[in-house]
Amino acid sequence: MINKMEKQQLRKEILLKWKNSSKRMEIQHSIYKRLFHLNIWENANIIGLTHSKDTEWDTTRLIEKAWDQKKTITIPKSNSDTNTMKFYQYAPGDRLEITRKNIKEPIESSNKFVEKDRHDLIIVPGVAFSKDGYRIGYGGGYYDRYLADYLGPTLSLAADFQMQPFLTKESHDIPVQFIVTNFGTIYCQHT
Ligand SMILES: Nc1ncnc2c1ncn2[C@@H]1O[C@H](COP(=O)(O)OP(=O)(O)OP(=O)(O)O)[C@@H](O)[C@H]1O
Ligand SMILES: [Mg+2]
Repeated sequence: MINKMEKQQLRKEILLKWKNSSKRMEIQHSIYKRLFHLNIWENANIIGLTHSKDTEWDTTRLIEKAWDQKKTITIPKSNSDTNTMKFYQYAPGDRLEITRKNIKEPIESSNKFVEKDRHDLIIVPGVAFSKDGYRIGYGGGYYDRYLADYLGPTLSLAADFQMQPFLTKESHDIPVQFIVTNFGTIYCQHT
């Protein structure tokens, strides 16, 4: 089992590389171009993703593209007592609130709630990935909990420098099915 310190260290190293990468916009462009041509994106009507902070790939581009293509976007409202999330529909003009971790989250309303299994695709954030789909996220276990009983497609977006040859799996970790990178799409083989 990987210890917390090692995980934290790896998160720090990769986030620093991300911050200092002079090619970030170019890489992002290449990842998004590839994503938009994937069947899994093209065929998805309801896509769940997070509203990115400035240390992540800019998901406002994804949200706008999805809206242009008449898709439905959902974004999560997190509960920091239970480390769980609920996804709500996010339409153009909807107001968001900035929560504790400086994340933009939806304002809860029952008519905007979207059940987990109604999603056609969930885009899972993360810091580091291995080609079998395992992931080091931001450390809350929010996605591992959410995906534990989700049956639909999942994918993550990653630059080459976020890919690791090997990540230690923990029993609660849920791998993603696809990783879209600037050099190609990885179809993850779960072992
Ligand atoms: N399904 C689960 N049930 C109970 N505890 C869990 C579950 N998933 C994760 N946890 C706990 O949450 C904590 C954080 O998990 P982990 O380090 O894997 O986060 P992460 O994958 O980086 O975060 P995220 O899933 O939000 O991207 C760990 O202490 C782990 O034991
Ligand atoms: Mg995890």
